[in-house]
Amino acid sequence: GSAPGQAAARPIAMGSAAEIGAFRSDPRYREALKRYCDVVVPMNDLKWEALRHDRARFDFSGADELVAFAEANRKALRGHTLLWGEALPPWVKEMKTRAEAERELVNHIEVVVDRYKGRIATWDVVNEVIKYDPTSGGPWRDTIWQRLLGPEHVEIAFRTAARTDPKARLVLNDFHFEEPDPVAAARRKVALDICRRLRDKGIPIHGVGMQAHLYAEKQVDTDGLQRFMRDLDELGLDVEITELDVIDWKMPADAALRDKHSAALVSTFLNAVVSAKRPKAIVTWGLTDRYSWVGETFPRKDDAKARPLPLDADYRPKPMMAVLERYRRGT
Ligand code: G3I
Repeated sequence: GSAPGQAAARPIAMGSAAEIGAFRSDPRYREALKRYCDVVVPMNDLKWEALRHDRARFDFSGADELVAFAEANRKALRGHTLLWGEALPPWVKEMKTRAEAERELVNHIEVVVDRYKGRIATWDVVNEVIKYDPTSGGPWRDTIWQRLLGPEHVEIAFRTAARTDPKARLVLNDFHFEEPDPVAAARRKVALDICRRLRDKGIPIHGVGMQAHLYAEKQVDTDGLQRFMRDLDELGLDVEITELDVIDWKMPADAALRDKHSAALVSTFLNAVVSAKRPKAIVTWGLTDRYSWVGETFPRKDDAKARPLPLDADYRPKPMMAVLERYRRGT
C-alpha cells in the first residue's frame, strides 16, 4: 500500500510530443523517444497547418513518419489535434460561411481519423476551445470555428470523430487548470460543464487533457486539482497530462537550482493529481531542453537557456526525469 501523498503503486504510461525537425535530424532525439516513452504524440504534424497546407490535398508525410516510428517501437499514439483555433493554413481563416466551415471540419476529421483508425488510440478532439477567462463573456474562445459554427463546433468535432472511429478515446484538451487563481477555477468548472453537456446530449467524450505548462514562479492549486479530479471521476471521465513542461523564464539563472525547483513543482503537481485520480498518461511537450517552444515564447532577460524538460540539452536526465520515472515505474 502507498502512504497518502505518495505515488500510486501502479505504473503510469509516460510519453512525449515529437517534433519532426528534431526527429529527422537528430538520432539522439529518436533514441530518447525510444527509451523514455510509452506514448508518442506528433507535436505539430497532425495540425491543420501541416496536413492542409494545400486546400486540395492532405499532406500526411510528417504524421506518417512519426506514426510508423511509434508503431515500429510499440509505442501508443495520441493524436493532436482535430480542432484548434491556431496553426491553421490561411485558407481556413478565410472561410466565410457556416456551411463551408461545417463541410470542411467534418471532412477533415473523417479523413484524418479514418487514416489512423485503430492506430491512434486517443485524440485531442478539440484543443484550447475554452476562453482564457471564461468569466468575462465566456465560455468559448474566439476562433474561426466559434465564429462560423458557434458552440456547436465542439459537438460536431466529437460526433464526427466518434462516428469515424467508434473505438477511439476522445479528449478535450486545454491549459491553465493548475494555477491557484480564480481564472483556473473558472476554467475547471467550464471544462466540467462542457463535458457534462456533451454527455447529456449523448455525444461521446472520454477524458480531459490537462496540458500542464507549469510556471516555475507560481504554485499549483493542490486542493483545486484534487477536487477537479474527483469531479471528473464522478462524470466517469479520464484525465491525462498532455503537454507537461516548466516555464522557468522568471527564475534565477543557476541551472542546478532551476532544475531542482522544477522537479519539485512537477512532483507537487503530479502528487496532487495522482492522489485523487490516476491519469491515463503523463506526456511532456518534448523531452530535451535542446528543443522546446518555451525558450522562444518566453525569452529570458539574461543569456541563460530555458530548462523546461526532463532531459538537458545534452540528453542528460535532470531531477524532473527522476520524478517522472518514479510514476512510470509505479513505485
Ligand atoms: O517547420 C518549420 C521550419 O521549416 C521553419 O524553418 C521554422 C521557422 O520558423 O518553422 C518551423 O515550423 C514551426 C514549428 O513549430 C516547428 O518548430 C512553426 O512555424 C511553429 O508555428 C510551430 O510552433 C508550434 C506551435 O504549437 C504552433 O503549432 C510549436 O512547435 C508547438 O510546441 C506548439 O504546441 C502547442 C500545442 O500544440 C498546444 N498547446 C500549446 C503548445 C505550445 O504553444
